[in-house]
Amino acid sequence: MQVPFYGHVRQYHNIQAEIDAKLREVLESGQYVMGPMLGRFEQELAAYLGMKYAVGVGNGTDALWLAFLALGIGAGDECITTVNTFFATAEAIWIANATAVFVDSDPRTNCIDPALIEAAITPRTKALVPVHLYGQCADMTAIRRIADRHNLLVIEDNAQAIGARGDGFKIGELSDAVCASFIIQKNLGTFGDGGAVITNSEKVDRAIRRLRNHGSEKRSCHSMGYNSRLDDLHAGVLSAKLKHIDHWNDLRRQWAARYSEGLAGASNITLAYEVPGYRHIYHLYVIETRRPEQRDPLLEFLNDRGIDAKCHYPIAIHQQDGYPWGQPARIATPLTNSERNAACCISLPMFPELTAEEVDYVIEKLREWDRTQS
Ligand SMILES: Cc1ncc(COP(=O)(O)O)c(C=O)c1O
Repeated sequence: MQVPFYGHVRQYHNIQAEIDAKLREVLESGQYVMGPMLGRFEQELAAYLGMKYAVGVGNGTDALWLAFLALGIGAGDECITTVNTFFATAEAIWIANATAVFVDSDPRTNCIDPALIEAAITPRTKALVPVHLYGQCADMTAIRRIADRHNLLVIEDNAQAIGARGDGFKIGELSDAVCASFIIQKNLGTFGDGGAVITNSEKVDRAIRRLRNHGSEKRSCHSMGYNSRLDDLHAGVLSAKLKHIDHWNDLRRQWAARYSEGLAGASNITLAYEVPGYRHIYHLYVIETRRPEQRDPLLEFLNDRGIDAKCHYPIAIHQQDGYPWGQPARIATPLTNSERNAACCISLPMFPELTAEEVDYVIEKLREWDRTQS
């Protein structure tokens, strides 16, 4: 059996009529950049998140650094985040000319460990940048409390968790800006690149609108800006998909529960962890091998049996060749958990359109491998 990692085409086929209708609507409108479909999707996205504003931008990386710029974060400012995230979290801090300060992650969730943040704060600290890793919210209640105590900004890297929530908090309500990525592999993904900044701040909304469009609020009038807009065709795809996101996230949760149940008791594997009371939407279902030296052989074992498992992220940011490339960076705590996560992680196939047979086959092969381990 072959089990793919992604189900983009299956998803397209399931809602083809809705997506095709949106694409046709944009094509027939004659307006493809900053047109009415973009405006409509921005409103739908803000409403979905229960926020006031959403601004579509070119991708999730741009969403982050444009949010930093809009919030006045720049040279000399320190942003505290983690190393076990997609590279773009730190890259965006550097694009904004700010300093990336790294603390370790929580060993169970792999999101930033709030208990380590305060010791990393200096007079130059300007912002906290938690990542809702794999589809589970970081502990925003604790993060907000620290931000309030030290007068810090909070920018949520929400590239992986549209539709997730915490215990007693929603994404967006405890931060200054939420940054989303809509690259195809995300749980809300278009057929290409896309991103958005979602905020309750009129000032941030206005600044991003200006920055993404050559510093322009009015035709022919410019200030310094960039070109980073979400195209209307992508907005149309996302508008069609947004209507299904809760159902798709439910299906992800269903497959995650099946993995967790089927793999319970496998002694060489640590299963994905959901914080009680949270809604983890399993953008990724990530297991860890008990020992680092088991990871690559297990990945090969699965791949050889037709299972397209992958790793997110096998090389932590500070372990990348050439780090930090002359960029301002500081490692504020030992990064033991993040390094273990990088060395031991394996992402199992996870997408709403999986079948029970596929999930059970992955479970069967993992259990087979587990029995061979001492
Ligand atoms: C955690 C995280 N941050 C930022 C990004 C950057 O998003 P994009 O690829 O749309 O630039 C991604 C995904 O690619 C991501 O997973």
